[in-house]
Amino acid sequence: MTKASRSVGMVTVATIVAAFAFSLTETVQADAHEEYEAAFNKDGELIRPAGWREWVFVGSPLTPNSLNGGVAAFPEFHSVYIDPKSWDHYKKTGKFREGTMFAKELTLVGDTSATSGIGFFNGKLQGFEIAHKDSKRYSKDSGGWAYYTFGHHDEPYDDTTSAMPAAACAACHTAAAAEDMVFTQYYSILQAAKGAGEAAAGTGGK
Ligand code: HEC
Repeated sequence: MTKASRSVGMVTVATIVAAFAFSLTETVQADAHEEYEAAFNKDGELIRPAGWREWVFVGSPLTPNSLNGGVAAFPEFHSVYIDPKSWDHYKKTGKFREGTMFAKELTLVGDTSATSGIGFFNGKLQGFEIAHKDSKRYSKDSGGWAYYTFGHHDEPYDDTTSAMPAAACAACHTAAAAEDMVFTQYYSILQAAKGAGEAAAGTGGK
């Protein structure tokens, strides 16, 4: 083999290795954006989804005790995520598909001052809840959604749980949520994404 042909061979090998590495990266990215569908155990309890912190983050409402006479009904930060498949659907159609799942992870208010100023900073994790849309499975009275709480405490959260009674959760959502039982009025990320297609992917929206 001449020196020239050997180096051509090495270039080819390098190209193949690079292509393989690229395809691996593609696969990993596809996995991170995995489609999520609700799963239930034999008693009909919802199984806590894995990996919700890698879903699409839509907002973090906060009603702290200190602004609610010392006793807020929900004093924690609410970090709200939507599953990636439903995010894609909402971007395209502006609708929450059957199967949509919102995860809400609660975090206590921790410090109230930092070098950046006086404010509210995340303390300990304090609970995990799910809203799930399935019009076949759930009553029309709750808009085809059900609400689940996996514990109101630090991790570990419960692994499975049954749907909460409508009066405990759905009623308030029915009464006050802006769009299909979801409080979209408080999620500017969803407002920007609604029907915006790929323009919603962090490029400044519509
Ligand atoms: C008194 C009214 C009220 C009740 C009762 C209530 N929620 Fe909500 N929920 C809200 C509001 C307001 C938001 C949006 C702002 C926020 O998170 O504070 C929300 C947001 C959510 C979200 C994020 C998705 C969305 O729809 O905006 C989930 C998940 C959720 N709630 C689950 C529950 C569960 C589970 C229960 C019952 C244990 C419950 N909620 C009871 C008012 C309520």
